[in-house]
Amino acid sequence: MSDISAVKDKYAAQIDSTNDLRTLDDIRVAALGKKGEIGKMMQGLGKMSIDEKKVMGPALNGLKKDIAAMIEAKKENLENAALDAALASETMDMSLPVGAPAGTLHPVQQVMEEMAVIFSDMGFSVAEGPDIEDDFHNFTALNFPPGHPARDMHDTFFMTAPEGEEKKVLRTHTSPVQIRTMINEKPPIRIIAPGRTYRCDSDQTHTPMFHQVEGLVIDKGIHMGHLKGVLMDFVSAFFETEVDVQFRPHHFPFTEPSAEMDVRYERDGASIKIGEGEKWMEILGCGMVHPNVLRACGVDPEQYQGFAFGMGVDRLAMLKYGMPDLRDMFAGDSRWLAHYGFNPLLQANLATGLS
Ligand code: PHE
Repeated sequence: MSDISAVKDKYAAQIDSTNDLRTLDDIRVAALGKKGEIGKMMQGLGKMSIDEKKVMGPALNGLKKDIAAMIEAKKENLENAALDAALASETMDMSLPVGAPAGTLHPVQQVMEEMAVIFSDMGFSVAEGPDIEDDFHNFTALNFPPGHPARDMHDTFFMTAPEGEEKKVLRTHTSPVQIRTMINEKPPIRIIAPGRTYRCDSDQTHTPMFHQVEGLVIDKGIHMGHLKGVLMDFVSAFFETEVDVQFRPHHFPFTEPSAEMDVRYERDGASIKIGEGEKWMEILGCGMVHPNVLRACGVDPEQYQGFAFGMGVDRLAMLKYGMPDLRDMFAGDSRWLAHYGFNPLLQANLATGLS
């Protein structure tokens, strides 16, 4: 029995003087491990008489429990001390002044906000739709009948679908938001729909994911003059200068007549000047909403007319802020963002300027 209390005292002293968790674990292994001291003492039980066993068995079990409890208590102690030390040393002084904010607003975000400011001043509100669309909203309701060749021109990304189910698509344009809006709301409608769009295409002026802003106006007596007025006012407000534009006839299945709008520009070394020179750059597609599209959404074309437009946000950002390569926009390079990004605390507005 004296053995037992000597062993207990020995470990108690060791545990007491330990200041780190590793040494504590070494002690645990030496005392309670498979080949540890207590185990060996227990093996000795086999050679003892029945009476001795009756005394030593419970005594050794008690010793084992006591040492385990001492180790557990010490462990908790050491862990709490480590936590206290971390709490004391890893403090952050919230009253210290911050340096220049590290984050910037991406030019695409900035341009979308500028557009929202300009169009909301003309009475438009902002609508949204999902990036993953079904065939009906992305194509069929927009007057692309099944098998129509224009479907192929969209370089569509198809999602995989279970057997027998229709494949969903990553929307190839923001025009499906026209459909969603006309189905859910009664005219008069005046919305813009900014968002991500996807086509399987990549070079200096194309990325597989890009951004568009859709516009839609539905009301009684709407004509091409309204469309031209809105878009001409928009570009002048956006480029913050008088901009010369031209409308060229074009074809989209969902508008009739359809046009593309170009702005006059000139290349001056690496930079581009909008509103001067002899060249024309296409910046958007537009037209009068096709009667088939109105019917597909339950709008009576005899009563209501409208116009729609869709423009590439990334290209407008490049033109306005002079980035040479579209792909850099989505490379996530912090040096590029530091250079081309915008102060997130300065919001675009018409009173003090867009940017
Ligand atoms: N959805 C067309 C495109 O992505 C653009 C467009 C929108 C044209 C609305 C006309 C009307 O090319």
